[in-house]
Amino acid sequence: MKHTAIINLDAPGPTINKHIYGHFAEHLGRCIYGGFYVGEDSPIPNKDGIRLDVVEAFKRLNIPNLRWPGGCFADEYHWMDGIGPKNKRPTMINTHWGGVTENNHFGTHEFMELCELLGAEPYITGNVGSGTVHEMSQWVEYLNFDGQSPMTELRKQNGRDKPWNVRFWGIGNENWGCGGGMTPEYYADKARNYSVYCRNYGNKRLYKIAGGPNVDDYRWMETLMKKLVYCPSGLPEDRFVNGISLHYYTFAGSWEQKGKALEADSDKWLILMKNAWRMDELITRHSAIMDQYDPRRKIGLVVDEWGTWHQVEEGTNPGFLYQQNTIRDALSASLHLDIFHHHANRVVMANLAQAVNVLQAPILTEGEKMVLTPTYHVLEMKKDHMDGTALPIILNPENPVLEYNNTTFPALSISASRKNGRFLLSLTNIDPEKSYPISVDLRGGEVQKMTGRILTSTKLNGHNSFENPHEVEPQNFTDFSIKGGTLHCTIPAHSFITFSFTSTVN
Ligand code: AHR
Repeated sequence: MKHTAIINLDAPGPTINKHIYGHFAEHLGRCIYGGFYVGEDSPIPNKDGIRLDVVEAFKRLNIPNLRWPGGCFADEYHWMDGIGPKNKRPTMINTHWGGVTENNHFGTHEFMELCELLGAEPYITGNVGSGTVHEMSQWVEYLNFDGQSPMTELRKQNGRDKPWNVRFWGIGNENWGCGGGMTPEYYADKARNYSVYCRNYGNKRLYKIAGGPNVDDYRWMETLMKKLVYCPSGLPEDRFVNGISLHYYTFAGSWEQKGKALEADSDKWLILMKNAWRMDELITRHSAIMDQYDPRRKIGLVVDEWGTWHQVEEGTNPGFLYQQNTIRDALSASLHLDIFHHHANRVVMANLAQAVNVLQAPILTEGEKMVLTPTYHVLEMKKDHMDGTALPIILNPENPVLEYNNTTFPALSISASRKNGRFLLSLTNIDPEKSYPISVDLRGGEVQKMTGRILTSTKLNGHNSFENPHEVEPQNFTDFSIKGGTLHCTIPAHSFITFSFTSTVN
């Protein structure tokens, strides 16, 4: 059984927005404290308390944006508690995540410094569930206004003269659930109100993102599109929001019965991959609703929470959502990113949940130790797709499929992009057991200087641990040939390969 595909190297296509490769850092478990932030007095090398090994590792991924402070935490967070001298900051209970006491030592200034160190654009989610319009409006003023005002005076007292000009603002999070238990109509009315008072200062325009549907809640999406995209004068400024979020997590089971991260079971593997492919259906159907109200695709779909969600590791706090990460998670991530590429004309941003020590984390830490997970390596191998032109992939309809419970889904995922005269081709074989010969007919220009890299493992649960941090890492892949413009190779079971090349077209 063989896979074949055709790619026209000179074909037009939408740009893969770099923000599709975004990340998410919530005050949850050890994501912020211990993950990104260890405090100034820590023996772990840090800058103003921000750990430098984690920053350096993320910089190698060119991360485009970081979403903060939540998640469910966002709709309980009062930003003024997180500014000023640390010893005077009030504490709060993090009721969603383990009931632990949050000391607010990591707040607005610390987050903005983290983003500066990472070279990432901040994406801040405001509190709609338990906050006020006034509170969020003041947060925007504090971060973005350059004139004289109560909030700019406060900012200056706290040591920052110039505004940061934060562009991405979330109007609440999961407001159908942890963010306030609202109906779509009620939330949409609230979001309109919040949106009006989140002001644009100077000539910088905010990109406002409404709290969108959970999974397949199409009524939520339709209501938001009806109520928020309203544009009385036809001018873009009259839209209440610029984007709508979508959250979808992938289980090796279900929400009620999650699988274990280190399980090496082919059935569970297939369930997870079937669930991963569901992202394609969700985006297609949500986009179809969006198209009815926004045919020119001005409103972005922002998948600001996605990733695998397993049972927590034994012996860890159940509220901290700490899980290991294997080659299976890495391939699921690759599949998701391909799906986002294929929907690049609607999906403008996505945020993997979460950056460090929580859910599908690219980085795990334990004290001073840090380990890069297989998911990290997929992000690194795919990073050159960012801002590339997505090339259409013509797949042979006879290509092999996998089956679980009478549902079939493709065994191989492909995406390709062109940027500044370079091409990146990604092939992901999600079959747990079979390798496949594959031929990709690369048309429209002669392929030059092709190199390959592979990420795989001998085990279905291959992973990196603090004891064995280099078990799953990319290797050079040379076992391919180009004949008459067609790339031939065999992609091993549960593997991810990238080919980088130039061409006579650019
Ligand atoms: O990422 C963990 C949680 O999942 C987030 O806080 C919430 O938005 C979602 O339900």
